[in-house]
Amino acid sequence: MSRKLLVLDDAEVLADAAAREVTRSVRNAIARRGSCSIALAGGRTPRQLYRKLAGEPHRSRIDWRRLEVFWGDERCVPPDHSESNYRMAREALLDRVPVARLAVHRMRGEVEPFSAAAEYEAALLETLGAAPRLDLVLLGIGADGHTASLFPDTPNLGGELRWVISTLGPATPRRRLSLTLRTINGARKVIFLATGAAKAAALALVLGKAADPAASSLPAALVRPRQGSLVWLVDRHAAARLP
Ligand code: 6PG
Repeated sequence: MSRKLLVLDDAEVLADAAAREVTRSVRNAIARRGSCSIALAGGRTPRQLYRKLAGEPHRSRIDWRRLEVFWGDERCVPPDHSESNYRMAREALLDRVPVARLAVHRMRGEVEPFSAAAEYEAALLETLGAAPRLDLVLLGIGADGHTASLFPDTPNLGGELRWVISTLGPATPRRRLSLTLRTINGARKVIFLATGAAKAAALALVLGKAADPAASSLPAALVRPRQGSLVWLVDRHAAARLP
């Protein structure tokens, strides 16, 4: 696994750097394999990135019809709910670019979570094969070190049997759907985005030199793509406590 950390001046500069990194990664995947499978991150941080990808110069540099779009996680709410990760990405990006409708694989947060997780796992396997290897996974990090919807007290984080699981988060909406570490760590590339002072403590644990054994078990610290690259894009506020 190769690992890169870039500290950017603020959220706007970070969104520009992230848009360049994503565009480059998508173009490389399409050049090599004719398509690109990407798992979008939820939460608030990626919104600026998605808006930039929907605008120039990135919009016309990406062959959108060659993308398969997934989500890293979803809240168990309807797709038009204000907390829906699908709704956020649809409004900021997907409604504004020509991704093929059938290539947008939404996690159905409105159905019973265990069924929704099994259904999404089947869609992932059907699209990417029996050992799904995403080209690119975008992730955020919570102040508690969670990522996607894998939380510090999520039981065995999905283990080695599942590709998608239902989890229970601490904040409402509590019931979630999430790719497992097995899926995330199978990706060719993972890009973390983190901005703001609220993330500084978690980043210090996950990226710092602290040999804190508790830190090494945080979900975000367990993201280590087995045969892929890991890129951290953080702003200086989130990086404030890094050595
Ligand atoms: C979610 C996300 C979650 C998010 C972090 C950071 O559904 O909430 O997938 O993992 O990336 O909580 O969220 P912010 O970007 O809003 O700080």
